[in-house]
Amino acid sequence: MARVYLTGSGSEATEAAIKISRQFFLEKGQQKRVNFISRWESYHGTTLGALALSGHRVRRAPYIPFLMENIHHISPCYTYRQLKAGESNAAFVTRKAAELENKFQELGPETVIGFIAEPVVGAALGCVPYVPGYLKAMRDVCHKHGALFILDELMCGMGRTGSLHAWQAEDVAPDIQTMGKGLGGGYQPIAAMMVSHVVLDQIMKGKNEFIHGHTYEGMPVQAAAALEIQKIFQDENLI
Ligand SMILES: Cc1ncc(COP(=O)(O)O)c(C=O)c1O
Repeated sequence: MARVYLTGSGSEATEAAIKISRQFFLEKGQQKRVNFISRWESYHGTTLGALALSGHRVRRAPYIPFLMENIHHISPCYTYRQLKAGESNAAFVTRKAAELENKFQELGPETVIGFIAEPVVGAALGCVPYVPGYLKAMRDVCHKHGALFILDELMCGMGRTGSLHAWQAEDVAPDIQTMGKGLGGGYQPIAAMMVSHVVLDQIMKGKNEFIHGHTYEGMPVQAAAALEIQKIFQDENLI
């Protein structure tokens, strides 16, 4: 990853991810890209953009009239309910990738900004990890269509799955990633969005800086606490 944008909450990090993804394509001259694909039974935050991405039906319900209509949901990766009798994990992953591919085709691949998922779904589904091969298969569908592969690691990242980032277990780096919670260890309100070199380079080459911002962001006290917490992770080999 190439650059980190520090925010005060996970929801703010998701909003930043939504906006930088759109700006990435505007700078590339691909104005038609307006759609996001996300998953049911997911949670990406409480603010309206992040809630629209989320697939948490109860939390969405009262606000449906306010949610962006250019966000489209596919099923989560949930073998407990979805694995068919006799179906292997590999066949299951192929089926999931085909569902994503179909959604791209339905929307028009040239209109899709990206796909967002939690590698391990947190509260919205109950600690449900991805099936081996899933992240790579979903990333490959995104990249085949020039779209972004975005991972929400707010709940599952920062060491909670045995590697600093959950995606590192399969070495499937995203184009954009969010992180939080363990970043501040509960001591300071801090979360972050990270972008890959591909995204950063395009923004740097473009006409504009990132058209986004809060009065308070990248706050030094929060950053100092987060840095100290990461040092403790390393010194005490907590991960
Ligand atoms: C996966 C995931 N994304 C986003 C969020 C939103 O983060 P915050 O509550 O800090 O706004 C959460 C919060 O639980 C989460 O679990």
